[in-house]
Amino acid sequence: MSEALEHSKRPAAAEALVLGIETSCDECAVAVVSGTPGQAAIRSDVIRSQVDLHAHFGGVVPEIAARAHADTIEAVAAAALAEAGVVLSDITAVAATIGPGLLGGLLVGATFGKAAAFGAGVPFVPVNHLEGHVLTPRLTHGIAFPYCVALLSGGHAQFVAVAGPGQYHRLGGTIDDAAGEAFDKTAKLLGLGYPGGPAVEEAARSGDPHRFDFPVPLQKRAGCDLSFSGLKTAVRLAAQKTAPLTDQDVADICAGFQFTVARLLEKKARRAMDAFAEVVEAAPSALVTVGGVAANGVIRAALERVATRAGAPFIAPPLALCTDNGAMIAYAAIETEAAGTALAPTARVRSRWPLDGEAAVLLGAGKRGAKG
Ligand code: KG4
Ligand code: ZN
Repeated sequence: MSEALEHSKRPAAAEALVLGIETSCDECAVAVVSGTPGQAAIRSDVIRSQVDLHAHFGGVVPEIAARAHADTIEAVAAAALAEAGVVLSDITAVAATIGPGLLGGLLVGATFGKAAAFGAGVPFVPVNHLEGHVLTPRLTHGIAFPYCVALLSGGHAQFVAVAGPGQYHRLGGTIDDAAGEAFDKTAKLLGLGYPGGPAVEEAARSGDPHRFDFPVPLQKRAGCDLSFSGLKTAVRLAAQKTAPLTDQDVADICAGFQFTVARLLEKKARRAMDAFAEVVEAAPSALVTVGGVAANGVIRAALERVATRAGAPFIAPPLALCTDNGAMIAYAAIETEAAGTALAPTARVRSRWPLDGEAAVLLGAGKRGAKG
């Protein structure tokens, strides 16, 4: 990140009513959230997914995503305001994701957000998409800082100690693919649909997780970094060796893959919880999981075991708030405005923007690029 980040200097509104815009990937989402930090309410949450536009290509096509955002953002914002029963002039601030993500979509959301803020005569609050994700349990459950988050999405896999707004410490993260990316690639290889996570989980239901003995990645490495690319290769080799694949073969490979990812996450999450107190000097109030992969039942169960062992509650926000949405962006603005950590409205969109600017760059992290 070359540009110095300037913080906003204005005071926060006492009772905020924020319009939040999310266009960093393939969801065009706008929401209205009201309230204060730890005590906010979702007044509306409208999401228009583009999955069907990208499914044919087996992944998100940035240009198609940007055009679709430009086509739909106005209607989605109008729907969010209408659903909340408010008009633009009631809004106290407009927030939009300015990164990390696909630049075309980010520009659409940020430009629309600035125009709406200007029109309403209220502040524009730029938001880091990842900050939206990791602050979500404060919106949904009002939990206290500090807490530990396993952020597992199509673009990310990392453990973050969340100590307060702007206080994020990456405990560990992927050195190659993101968690959801591993599911999507496995699904593609096996001829299952996109997005791959739900398809793999469904196929795995009738599979034997022990038929293929895939090695758990980074077994010998200390700490809580993650890796998925070796597992991807092991899956490919198993599929090639077994071909032609029957439905049962596909089910068994999916079950083995999912079981191995869950074992990896369980082991490393345990270490993340152990490392937490050293980094933050307090015990975590909860272990939280967010991101699309948090929808996976086997992975949820594995993380729940980690929380139970650590004597902390396990929190998985409702799925619609685990995946990309506008409410988390509006809420992040409420937190950062109140804490004085919000960025100045002039901050530029950025494709890469780590939450923890202090943490060392992980080798190859976020190869998919868009959200790293
Ligand atoms: O958080 P998300 O909606 O978008 C990003 O911000 O990336 O996550 C989407 C990812 C996709 O890679 C998808 O395959 C994965 O979440 N996913 C799942 C499941 N449902 C969605 N992965 C595993 N099991 C699932 N049930
Ligand atoms: Zn996301």
